[in-house]
Parts: sequence; C-alpha cells; structure tokens
Amino acid sequence: MQILVLGNGSREHALLYSLSKDSQVSGLHVAPGNDGMTAIAQLHPDIDINDGPQVVDLATSLGADLVVIGPEAPLVAGVADALRDAHIPVFGPSAQAAQIEGSKAFAKDVMKAAHVCTAQAESLQPGASTDQVDAVLNDFGPTFVVKDDGLAGGKGVVVTQDRDEARDHAVAVLESGHPVLVESFLDGPEISLFCLVDGDTVVPLLPAQDHKRVGEGDTGPNTGGMGAYAPLPWLPDGAVDQIVDEIVQPVASEMAKRGCPFNGLLYAGLAWGNEGPAVVEFNCRFGDPETQAVLELLDTPLAGVLNSVATGHLADVPPLAWKDGYAVTVVLAAQGYPAGPRKGDPISGAEPGTEDDGVRHAGVARLGDRLVSSGGRVLSVVGVGKDLDEARAKVYRRMEGISLPGGHYRRDIAQKAVEGRIGIAN
Ligand code: GLY
Repeated sequence: MQILVLGNGSREHALLYSLSKDSQVSGLHVAPGNDGMTAIAQLHPDIDINDGPQVVDLATSLGADLVVIGPEAPLVAGVADALRDAHIPVFGPSAQAAQIEGSKAFAKDVMKAAHVCTAQAESLQPGASTDQVDAVLNDFGPTFVVKDDGLAGGKGVVVTQDRDEARDHAVAVLESGHPVLVESFLDGPEISLFCLVDGDTVVPLLPAQDHKRVGEGDTGPNTGGMGAYAPLPWLPDGAVDQIVDEIVQPVASEMAKRGCPFNGLLYAGLAWGNEGPAVVEFNCRFGDPETQAVLELLDTPLAGVLNSVATGHLADVPPLAWKDGYAVTVVLAAQGYPAGPRKGDPISGAEPGTEDDGVRHAGVARLGDRLVSSGGRVLSVVGVGKDLDEARAKVYRRMEGISLPGGHYRRDIAQKAVEGRIGIAN
C-alpha cells in the first residue's frame, strides 16, 4: 500500500512511524513534511496541502492507495472532497463535516440537537464594538474562555480570570476578521478522546490527557500542547463507553442525519466535572501531542484501520488491540514559544532516523549538515513503560540527550496522575 500523509508536525511524524511498522505499507510519502522525517518517508515539500487539485495530482502521480490528512486546514478547505471526487481513498472528513472544528457555532448547533452537554456560549461577529464585547463578558466569569472562531489549530483560546486579558483577546480576534466565541468555563480534569468515525460507526481509541499551558503546574499561556499521556489511570472502567454513548455517538448520528456524515478522526475535548463529561470542543483530526502517546500503544496495524474508515468499512474491523502499559510524550519548544518562538537554533541528539528512540519532529529544518529549529514546537519525545513512572523516566532520560539552545519543556507531564492528584467525581 502506498500512503501519502499531509502535514508537517509531530502528529504526522507519529502517524508515519506507526504506518511504517505496518507490513501492508510498501511506500510512505509526506507533503510538505519536515526534514526530521526523511528516514521513513519521501518528502514533497513544495505541495500546497490546502489546494485540492495539487494534492489530487500528487496522489495520482504516486499511485497513492490512501491519503491521510493530518491538520484541520486542508480538511476545512475541502481537500478530502477533492480526493473523494477523484476516487482516491482518503482518511479525513468532508469540508462540511470538518465544520465541527472549523466553526464553533456549527459545533454548538450539532451538540444542541444531539442533546450533548457542553459550555454555554455567546458569539461576537467581526465589527462588534468594545461595548458589545463588554456586554458579553458581563454574562461570564469569574473564569473567561475566549475562543477564536476561525481556525487556530487549538491555539486561539485564552482561558483567564483576568477580564482585561479576556477583553484584549476578544478585540484582537475581532480585529483579525474572525468571529469570537465566549464560553462558560467547564470545571474538572480534561480528557482527549479520539474516535474513529465512519458515519454512524464509532470506535474509540485510548483516552489521553494533554497539558495545554506552557509552564509547569499548568501556569502561563495556552499552547498547542506541551505533553500528553495515555491511557488515564484515574478514569474508571466504563468511562470511555459513557463518553461514547452520551457524546460521540449522538454527535456522529446527528451529523449523519443532517446529511454531512463524519468520516475520519473525531476528537472530543472534554472536561469531566461533577455533572459528568461535557464537551470543551470537537476537532476533526488527530490531536497533537496526544497522538504520539496513543499510537505508541496501538497494536493493530494502523494502515488497515485508517483504510477501513476511508473505504467505509469501519464496522467490519475487529476490536482494536492495545499494548499493556502507558505512554508519555513531552514537547520540546523553542525559546520564546508560544509568544514569539525563535527559529534557526541548532538541534543535536535528535537526527532523522531516531524514531525508534521516540523522537517525533515538528518545527525543524535542515541547514547545511545540521538540523535547526523552524517553529514553536520543535519536536516531541514519546516513551512507553509498564506504568506512568517508567514511561516518564524513559522520556525525560531521552530528552536530556537532546540539545536546543533556549529550548524548554515541562518536567511535570503526567505527574499529577502519578501522584494521585487527579480524578473525577463518581
Ligand atoms: N491537543 C490539542 C490539539 O491538538 O488541538
């Protein structure tokens, strides 16, 4: 099977690595990819992955049997539709179904119709005055959740008790021409549940937890994610089934009923408070960095699973097999991330070909004979252990062998879970 993956982050590197272990896979291509991926995939760096015809041409010229779309932007732009129109199997939803992430207002409407528990929300359209912003903020607090309702790759959210900060973010988003969504704050630990979805068929993967704040102890600004672990030892038996039954299945069925069935990976971002699980947001793609941890534990060969979704046969797939133990992933970020990441710093100890060692590259580029940083989240390291302690020890030992001037990472990924300081009300 020849597979083309679209994207250039650690998530795509993790997908490629898992696909490379599947004996059905004879060739791996990635567009645009990054220079850390060259040991396992052929790069196509000049392709605009948001341009359907360009992607169709590339997939056709490669004889791709399957295209896997990583990020949300090409999905929202309709690249999966262009591939389906050209009869090329694709893992990823249509533009219409990708609105579950692309438009928070659409997502709220689907959730309301499906009777799914989520935050209260009010939206502001570009052109709204600061008085209108203030009037909306008056309905919320003491913790404000202010979201960019355009696409921000999980990065356009400010959660703060500082009203001025909430107001400034709302105004900045409106000035950038995007709508703003102000939401009530959902309490309780966060859970990322990735589900394979093919119309009405829903198959959950292992639950994971992201760490969104840049600083240890969940301090500092929100990021795209600084680390994750899976599964969640504090989540009781039956909790995943409850999330599927109360949230993901009703949403998948509602979308199918509306004539925009979801086909791909539906990512439920949840908070589990006293009232049970509630939706913080849906994404139409695998999450980063949770994917690095979740895929590390998947025993079922990945290409067959993704292909079954792409070809509408998910219901025929036997139950997924998982390795015992836990996986932890930690992100190495560039100096200045998230506000203003510095680029061009030399990276050592994480050359291409270090996948077996847990390295998954993201913001990297080759400069002469060196790998240098070229983005905010530079790479991640994933490790597996019989328990979270062992997985953490492996990851942090590996991370110590990597050098990036000014680089920083959180040393407390999964620590609360190890120390039993996290749990849900039963
Ligand atoms: N883990 C956050 C995201 O992928 O959006």
